[in-house]
Amino acid sequence: MEFSIKALLPGRKTSGCCVVGIYAEREMSAAATTLDNAGNGCLRRLLQRGDMEGRIGSTLLLHDVPGIASARVLLVGLGPQAEFGEKQFRRAITATVGALANTGAADAELHLVELAVGRRDIEWRSMQAACAAQTAIYRFEQMKSQPAKNAPALAKVVLAVKTKSEVKRAERGLARGFALAHGVNLARDLGNLPGNVCTPTYLADEARKLAKQYRLKIQVLERADMKKLGMNTLLSVAAGSSEPPKLIVLEYSAGPKKQKPVVLVGKGVTFDTGGISIKPAPEMDEMKYDMSGAGSVLGTIKAIAAMKLAVNMVGIIPATENMPGGRATKPGDIVTSMSGQTVEILNTDAEGRLILCDALTYAERYQPAAVIDIATLTGACVIALGHVVSGLFANNDPLAREVLAAGETSGDAAWHLPLHDEYQEQLHSNFADFANIGGRPAGAVTAACFLSRFTKKYPWVHLDVAGTAWKSGREKGSTGRPVPLLTQFLINRAGKR
Ligand code: BES
Ligand code: MN
Ligand code: ZN
Repeated sequence: MEFSIKALLPGRKTSGCCVVGIYAEREMSAAATTLDNAGNGCLRRLLQRGDMEGRIGSTLLLHDVPGIASARVLLVGLGPQAEFGEKQFRRAITATVGALANTGAADAELHLVELAVGRRDIEWRSMQAACAAQTAIYRFEQMKSQPAKNAPALAKVVLAVKTKSEVKRAERGLARGFALAHGVNLARDLGNLPGNVCTPTYLADEARKLAKQYRLKIQVLERADMKKLGMNTLLSVAAGSSEPPKLIVLEYSAGPKKQKPVVLVGKGVTFDTGGISIKPAPEMDEMKYDMSGAGSVLGTIKAIAAMKLAVNMVGIIPATENMPGGRATKPGDIVTSMSGQTVEILNTDAEGRLILCDALTYAERYQPAAVIDIATLTGACVIALGHVVSGLFANNDPLAREVLAAGETSGDAAWHLPLHDEYQEQLHSNFADFANIGGRPAGAVTAACFLSRFTKKYPWVHLDVAGTAWKSGREKGSTGRPVPLLTQFLINRAGKR
C-alpha cells in the first residue's frame, strides 16, 4: 500500500472512497460537516434516520453521494467526542482499513489525521495512522499453497491534512509510521513462521539480509565460538537439538562516534518443547513464538534503519531450539555461565534465562548506555498481566521510566513490576551458586531476579512479553510487540543526545 499526505477538502477530488469520522450520538466531525454541505445535507438526513450512531469502530459505506466527487463515502464511528483518544484513533484507522478492504476501492482519502487526539501533534497522528493502516492489512500467507483469492484492491491511501503548513510534519510522521510498520510486520512474519522453517539458522540468514540491505555490521557466533567464550548456559539449552545454535550480533551505528550504544537482547528460542522437563501437548505449537524477542530486535533494527535514526544500537540474539534428547541437559545438571557463576538447572523448561544470561554477559563488551532484553520468558507474567501490557523490570529507575513512556507514546504499553532483594532468596541452590527456577510464587519476578545477576555492569530493563507477543485462539498470530515501544524508545534517544 502506498501512502501520501495532501492538504485536501473532503469530497472535492475524485477518489475511490472519501473517509470521514462520525462521533457518538451522530455528531459530525469537521470533515463530515464539509461533506454534508457539499452533498446538500445528505449525511445529516442519513444520520437522522438512525443508520449510523457513531459507535467506535463501526462503519457505514455509501455509494454515489450527490455533490461528492468520490465514488464512495465511508463513515467511521469515533465514539463519544469527549472520550476520543489515542486508542480510539488507532481503532478508527483499523476499522477504516478493514471496511475499505471489503470494497473495490483502489484508492482512498482519509480525513482522520485531521482529528484532534488529546495533545498529540500532526506528526504523531500521521505516524500512528500510517502504522495502524499498514499493520491492519497484514496477512500471513507464506505457508499457504494458494495465494488468497480476494486480496483487497486498496493500493493508494491519501492522509488528508487541513493546511499546507502541516504537510511537512505529516510526511515525516508518515515515513516513520511506514518504517515502523515494516519492522512490526517483519517481527510478525518471523513469529508466525513454524519451527521447522524459522530455525536459529533461518534467523541468522534474516539478520544477514538486514545487514546487507542497511549496511550493518554483523557477526554470527557458532557453537565452537560459544564454547571458547564459555557460554555454557546457552550451550546447555542447545544440547538436545540437532539444529546448530547461533549468537547473532548486529551493529547499527548512525549515531555520534563516541556515543555508547543501546543494546537490545532478544530471546530466540525457535521452538520450546521444555526439553527433558517437557511441556504438555495442548497448545505446545504456540512455542514457535518463543523467538518473538529475537523477532522484535530484528524488527526494531529494520524500523530504525529505515528511519535513518541517528543512534548507535547493537542487537544480540541468542538463538536455539529447546529439545529433549540423548544429549539434552537433565534436571539437576550444573553448568558454569560465561560470567563464571554456576547454575543448577532444576527445570530445563526455564531455558530463556539460560540463553539470555550469557548474551547479557556478552553485552558488557559494548559498554552499553543501556541494555533492554526482550523475552517471552514466563507463563507467570501472562497470569499477572494478561495480554494487555508487557511486564517490565529494571535495575535503574530513570531508564524504566524512559521505557514506560515510550510504551505509552506508541500504544505498546508495559507495566513496572518489582525486583526487591527478598525475591532473590527463592533462587537458592544447595549445590551451585543459584538455581534457574524460584518456585511458583512470583514466577515472572524470580525469572527477572535470575537475569539481574548478570546485568550489574550497566543500566538494564527486562521486558517479559509472554502475554503480548502473540494472540491465541481464533486470531492466533504474532502481534509484533514490542517493536513499537522499542522503536519509540530509540526515536526519543535520537532526539535527545
Ligand atoms: N517460553 C516459556 C514461557 C511461556 C509459557 C510463554 C507460556 C508464553 C506462554 C518459558 O520458556 C517457560 O517455559 N517458562 C516456564 C518457567 C518455569 C519452568 C519456571 C513457565 O513459565 O512455566
Ligand atoms: Mn520454556
Ligand atoms: Zn521458552
